[in-house]
Amino acid sequence: MTAITIRRPDDLHLHLRDGEAMRSVLPFTAARFARALVMPNLRPPVTATQQALAYRQRILDALPAGVAFEPLMTLYLTDRTEPAEVDRARASGCIVGFKLYPAGATTHSDAGVTDIRKVDAVLSRMEEQDLVLEVHGEVTDPQVDVFDREARFIEEVLTGLAARFPRLRIVFEHITTRAAVQFVLGSRPGIAATLTPQHLLMNRNALFAGGIRPHHYCLPVLKSEPDREALNAAAASGDPRFFLGTDSAPHARGAKETACGCAGMFCAHGAIELYAEAFEAAGALARLEAFASEHGADFYRLPRNEGRITLIKTPWEVPRSYPFGTEEIVPLRAGEHIGWRLAGTERG
Ligand code: NCD
Ligand code: ZN
Repeated sequence: MTAITIRRPDDLHLHLRDGEAMRSVLPFTAARFARALVMPNLRPPVTATQQALAYRQRILDALPAGVAFEPLMTLYLTDRTEPAEVDRARASGCIVGFKLYPAGATTHSDAGVTDIRKVDAVLSRMEEQDLVLEVHGEVTDPQVDVFDREARFIEEVLTGLAARFPRLRIVFEHITTRAAVQFVLGSRPGIAATLTPQHLLMNRNALFAGGIRPHHYCLPVLKSEPDREALNAAAASGDPRFFLGTDSAPHARGAKETACGCAGMFCAHGAIELYAEAFEAAGALARLEAFASEHGADFYRLPRNEGRITLIKTPWEVPRSYPFGTEEIVPLRAGEHIGWRLAGTERG
């Protein structure tokens, strides 16, 4: 039997939601990851340091007894965010960045930024305070083809942004295209990207396999096979600018299986196992540890975790659903198999 033991990983892009829904999904992440960067797109959005600290405390209070897990927080940027918020965030010691959602780009992004120039003063203060900008990189113009929105964002927003703030550290979140990989590879120091298991393992055919598949719909939407290959090559290359961020984004079954379903896939129940599948398929299992447990921590200037997890190559059947507050969620691979299993966690 094949087994691998790696340093305990970090999930640097996670949606936990709040309340009972959060209580349902948090244990999956805490069992696998030592830390996670928790996205601020709640309703209302987490825009202020005090809100983030309160949310962080609710997450800590929801942890199963005896489980050590550290939520890392990021604030939701809006047109009205003040530079002084950057100072408060920095002083809190618990907030590592700000999240840029172009208004209307994705789930709960309506309070996002309508024009990047409106947040120039905030970005400048972030550069001074050395906080990280996490970017949802898609243009929102409805005229632009949905499959081209990430590439257009690079041309229209990200290239200029990276040049105007040459010391601002930027994470291009959940990249989905070859264009995004090439942008990161060709960019100045201080620019990195997260990769999700769903975009490493599936292309856009998965949206239509035998019929329309709402549980394979997320944003940015799955892309073509050449794009998927470029993402896998980036992950498998060992380049420290690419690291783990699951974008696990739970929505109740009813919100997905409907005439206008929400964007987001839930993968926290098997996230590191799914990455193991992808790295094995790429012939790069030996590089999983650096991708999952070193590159992200190093980029965020956090100490690498001390604990270890062990994965064994034994397929297991994913339940058709998990409880989600008073509702249920349909996880990635529901009723199907994941090829690796979490066998043990040593918290260190
Ligand atoms: C995310 C969500 O549901 O909050 N959805 C998604 O499709 N990934 C938001 C996001 O990260 O875009
Ligand atoms: Zn996300």
